[in-house]
Amino acid sequence: MKAARLLLAAATVCAGASLLAAPTAPVTVHDTMAGIVDPAADVVWEITNRNVDDLGYGAADKYAAGDWARLYAASSDIRRGAAIIANAPRLRAAAPGAKIADQDQPGATNAADVQRRIDSDPKSIRAHARNLAALAADLEQAAVRRDAKTAQDLAGALDGACEACHLQYWYYNQEPVK
Ligand code: HEC
Repeated sequence: MKAARLLLAAATVCAGASLLAAPTAPVTVHDTMAGIVDPAADVVWEITNRNVDDLGYGAADKYAAGDWARLYAASSDIRRGAAIIANAPRLRAAAPGAKIADQDQPGATNAADVQRRIDSDPKSIRAHARNLAALAADLEQAAVRRDAKTAQDLAGALDGACEACHLQYWYYNQEPVK
């Protein structure tokens, strides 16, 4: 029993040490997209697309209990993910060996292509990320104010911010792979 507890304590110390070491690891755009930004954006769009009036405008009276809080939380996640990219000292497209979406489609880009793009213009990708973070911050505020019209407009603008960065760093020279 005692030995087991000691082992557990040792494991906890190791986990702590690796957490401390984490900030020096390069940020991967892939993990940030797949793990944070994309799932949060899906929540934003699900909420803002569902809560519309007959003409398709954002309608506060359609919002269900919890929608505003979920919209706020998802916007915060997007802002956090965007800030991770904007502030990363080093940006890596993906961890070694990781597959990125659609890379096996004919003519699609892979992580090495994305990495070359990042390395040739590291400033713009951070600017795109700051733009996304600013939109997400506005969306947080719209959720606080329960401003459905602005939330819907911002959710549309969010799509443009994703696309602008993807066109430069991911799907360049080709139509987005559907
Ligand atoms: C700052 C630039 C930038 C912004 C802004 C951005 N992305 Fe990305 N995204 C990338 C890059 C570069 C890749 C290619 C690497 C990859 O495939 O993971 C990517 C890949 C992805 C992928 C594919 C992940 C995978 O499995 O390979 C998804 C999904 C995605 N982004 C969703 C979004 C959404 C949704 C938004 C907007 C809310 C967004 N992205 C905004 C740069 C950006």
